[in-house]
Amino acid sequence: MKLLVVGGAGYIGSHMVKMLAQSDHDVIVLDNLSTGFRQSVKYGKLVVGDLADIHLLENLFTEHHFDGVMHFAANSLVGESMILPSKYYRNNVSNTLNLLDVMVRHNIKHFIFSSTAATFGEPEYSPMNELHPQNPINPYGASKLMVEHLLKDYATAYGLNSVCLRYFNACGADPEGEIGELHDPETHLIPLILQAASGRRKSITVFGRDYATADGTCIRDYIHINDLCSAHALALDFIQSGKGKGALAYNLGNGQGFSVQQVIDAVVKVVAADGFSLKIENGERRAGDPAVLVADATQAKTLLGWKPRYPDLETIIQHAWNWEKKQSIP
Ligand code: UFG
Repeated sequence: MKLLVVGGAGYIGSHMVKMLAQSDHDVIVLDNLSTGFRQSVKYGKLVVGDLADIHLLENLFTEHHFDGVMHFAANSLVGESMILPSKYYRNNVSNTLNLLDVMVRHNIKHFIFSSTAATFGEPEYSPMNELHPQNPINPYGASKLMVEHLLKDYATAYGLNSVCLRYFNACGADPEGEIGELHDPETHLIPLILQAASGRRKSITVFGRDYATADGTCIRDYIHINDLCSAHALALDFIQSGKGKGALAYNLGNGQGFSVQQVIDAVVKVVAADGFSLKIENGERRAGDPAVLVADATQAKTLLGWKPRYPDLETIIQHAWNWEKKQSIP
């Protein structure tokens, strides 16, 4: 199949492109390289361009007949979205509309969308299933929810079949070590702890130890990047085979929460095997962090047939550590 992966030079997109290419799909990557990296595109053909460029989109869809589109290109920093909402609504919503409209014009019916646990806002219960109310508390989450809503209307009006996958905490790296997590700036917990271990940063700061959790630190549901990607491949099969129709949405996580302290403890254990250690500091709470975010991914498992292959936290950290060593230790 010929597939377009928008944002395929980013962390999640690049792992997806590798998985699709290894399953013999013909992949075109569209990425403006604003947060992605050219060197992350090891498979498929990279077209450097922006979703704001309607002419480029029109030409791309005229040149290629895509069987489906996966869309990973978005701005995704919660804090930044509070300060620069226009950037988030323009890129995450308006530019996504450009993509959907060119798909409609070219009669492409299959779309997989990167959504987020941030569409839910403050958890009302845990683990969170798809029935949990969606009341985002920041423009990032709101921008993703807007796309979820408009996909419902595009399904009804244009027959566009889509699956929104709501990620909890994506992490880890390609088990083969070829690609991994690259962000600039890096804000995510696991790569930051690993950088503190490798010496790329001097310490890791725990954002708050006074949450209503067993050890006082926030609990998150960490999901291996390849498990996230395998769910996308299954979601595409699901709508392409005709088993799934309309605008669908599933939560993706392991269903098991780990506290910031538990993640640090697991990293300490993994890096100690290589003779590394790290410095831990305590800081204030980060604005907008709920105490607990854990997914109920039963629907993805039962309907898509998804089965996480790397649910073990130490395995996730080991893969991320293998990648971090490659980046930082000659
Ligand atoms: N944390 C620290 N110190 C750090 C960085 C993070 O203690 O230096 C803590 C955070 O406070 C949080 C946990 O580690 O409790 C995880 O933080 P991340 O920044 O790695 O991930 P988030 O849970 O904040 O964010 C993820 C995605 C977002 C998405 C959000 C959904 O990265 O895109 O889940 O709520 F919006």
